[in-house]
Amino acid sequence: MQITVVNHPLIKEKMTRLRDKNTKPSEFRALLDQIAQLLLFEVTKDFPVKEVPVETPLQKTTGYALDISSITVVPILRAGLGFLDAVLDLIPEANAGHIGLCRDEETLKPIEYYCKMPNDKNAQVIVIDPMLATGGSGAAAITMLKEKGYNNIRFMCLVAAPEGVEVINKAHPEVKIFAAALDDKLNEHGYILPGLGDAGDRVFGTVVK
Ligand code: PRP
Ligand code: URA
Repeated sequence: MQITVVNHPLIKEKMTRLRDKNTKPSEFRALLDQIAQLLLFEVTKDFPVKEVPVETPLQKTTGYALDISSITVVPILRAGLGFLDAVLDLIPEANAGHIGLCRDEETLKPIEYYCKMPNDKNAQVIVIDPMLATGGSGAAAITMLKEKGYNNIRFMCLVAAPEGVEVINKAHPEVKIFAAALDDKLNEHGYILPGLGDAGDRVFGTVVK
């Protein structure tokens, strides 16, 4: 199984608060922001850089700039939106594409309802979605991007299930997956155990109690 689980004490502590069923949407969104930025540190670790001249108040020296045509962040709607602001805060020059997918509750297969991408096909694409469960949505999003000509793709999530990781590994072996946690398994409804419930509902407060 190919996945990078970012093991960091701050992520572990924040993930525990996220998982807590008593955590309200406002705190959930704040924690998501913080974890997204910690994850992004690892996701971007090997991005190429080039030397650039810079003049400090004291002297000229050599600095660095990212050596990438452009970066496009692609949240899978809806829950992926919970990651977007944090990523754009850290990489403000990035563009954002959007892919709308939702799971059919019976078949668990993803249904596409929206796709809008920036033009640069050479962009380094980072697909973001808090949950990688059956892998249907993540794999479908990556397929959609490849069909449009994007090939440099990474996938960043919060919680991954082994089943979903296998699906993406098999369909898109070159796509690197990053997660804050690799959980145990899926239940019979396709929810991740122990997981954190329905990420979209928890981000946007649509849980019916
Ligand atoms: C959730 C989640 C992922 C998908 C993961 O979205 O945000 O996109 O499920 O499940 P999968 O790996 O089995 O495809 P959902 O379909 O619930 O839509 P929402 O974000 O609009 O709530
Ligand atoms: N989607 C979610 O939001 N949570 C899960 O556990 C599985 C899919």
